[in-house]
Amino acid sequence: MTKQRIFSGVQPSATPTIGNYIGAMKNFVALQDDYDCIYCIVDQHATTVPQDPVTLRMQTRSLAALYLAIGLDPEKSTIFIQSEVPAHSEASTIVRCNMGMGELERMTQYKDKSQKQQSVSVGLFTYPAVMVADIILYNTNVVPVGADQKQHLELTRDFVTRFNKRYGYGSSILTMPEPLIPKTGSRIMSLQTPSKKMSKSDANPKEYISMLDNAKTIRKKINSAITDSYGVVAYDPENKPGVSNLLTIFSAFTGESIDDIVKRFGGVGYGQFKRELADAIIAELEPIQERYNVLFASEELDKVPDEGTTRANQIAGETVRKMKRAVGLGR
Ligand code: AMP
Ligand code: TRP
Repeated sequence: MTKQRIFSGVQPSATPTIGNYIGAMKNFVALQDDYDCIYCIVDQHATTVPQDPVTLRMQTRSLAALYLAIGLDPEKSTIFIQSEVPAHSEASTIVRCNMGMGELERMTQYKDKSQKQQSVSVGLFTYPAVMVADIILYNTNVVPVGADQKQHLELTRDFVTRFNKRYGYGSSILTMPEPLIPKTGSRIMSLQTPSKKMSKSDANPKEYISMLDNAKTIRKKINSAITDSYGVVAYDPENKPGVSNLLTIFSAFTGESIDDIVKRFGGVGYGQFKRELADAIIAELEPIQERYNVLFASEELDKVPDEGTTRANQIAGETVRKMKRAVGLGR
């Protein structure tokens, strides 16, 4: 039986946080044995907001090293860089012409992100159309993402239905994707403002833990994470958002259930809880960081996206040809 296809992407806009890791990247690794996985470094998405060119290129290499360091195996997973596969731009044009302004105006991530920008690019507005193109180009069945991407997946599903109806005359040209959103950890919150999600582009680094933060920094950030004055470790996202977020992170890093963690720290207060949480994060990130440092400096790192791009070009090229034929483009 042929394996189902997985596709997902991460923007190389900054070093991923433990939110990206728990919500998406950790799952990328878990899925690679059972699915045909394609993981993209979506550099074109990153340029929808201003980026320094030298930093962007460095972050792209860094994300490739991190993909491998967390355990993605190029024998099992295809890893490539979005801008190196021209079909993404070609398919995006077709997607944009079959998508309504109103659909894009409803996107909550656009509303959030555009509020943070001094001047908003057209690219930021049409970003979800590019994401739709990313997904459909690979005949994707399943898309592992965090909760913030749910609306973009709904947009993709609506697009697939519309495109197949409009151009397929009953047969399905494009594959219908399903989101895969983890039950726990799909929305890790900021350590300082637990009402908003943890984001790698936050101005204050105390809001997040980067996957490349060292042990000392991790301890400091967890220590200064906002809790509350009750002093009792309990899971109650509404009344205890800070502690509940830390419990979610704890559970994601150790695999222990939140209930068991609550029982274990029931009578001991936040100090001990935070110390052990920092230990758990460091225990998982340190070996990743050691592998990352070796990979980032190695020539081997260039080979992986080279091979990935070849395969991605084959699959995406075929889909884009099908799409062009369907809409009547070319001869
Ligand atoms: P991005 O950093 O926007 O490229 O996100 C990469 C992946 O991480 C996407 O699947 C997001 O849904 C996921 N993600 C981003 N922030 C968080 C968060 N705070 N909690 C859980 N998942 C997240
Ligand atoms: N929009 C996603 C984010 O900001 C990244 C992304 C781009 C993506 N293209 C994708 C995720 C395709 C899954 C599938 O997190």
